[in-house]
Amino acid sequence: MKKVITYGTFDLFHYGHLRILERARYYGDYLIVAVSTDEFNALKGKICTYPYEHRSKIVAALKFVDEVIPENNWEQKIDDIKNNGVDVFVMGNDWEGKFDFLKKYCEVIYLPRTDNISTTQIKEDIRK
Ligand code: CTP
Repeated sequence: MKKVITYGTFDLFHYGHLRILERARYYGDYLIVAVSTDEFNALKGKICTYPYEHRSKIVAALKFVDEVIPENNWEQKIDDIKNNGVDVFVMGNDWEGKFDFLKKYCEVIYLPRTDNISTTQIKEDIRK
């Protein structure tokens, strides 16, 4: 079985999130999504509208997502790949090049972001 992993915050779940997960799953037979915890977001200075429990449950409910794990820190990726027998690491191309160090452990693929949508943009639009 070919396993794929991807990471994200997935706050205010939107169409761009849906598309990256759907496309990520296409690269294998089993998709693991690491969702950032509220504690990790606090360390990054990122405040989410939805708590981890809600964000992770929404992601886990998708038919092309097989497993959700917490993302607690920047350093866990190599262990996640090794411990879960991951074959492919997928991220949106806003992260292009940033995770090339993982090529020692698995295939690394950056997929084009969906145009004109982001959680930050949604929040700004609602504030207007
Ligand atoms: N993503 C995407 N297309 C978008 C928005 C996000 O493909 N329009 C991807 C990102 O590249 C990443 C994953 O979805 O691989 C999770 O991204 P996340 O940072 O949670 O979503 P954003 O909407 O970009 O959130 P923010 O505005 O807070 O950065």
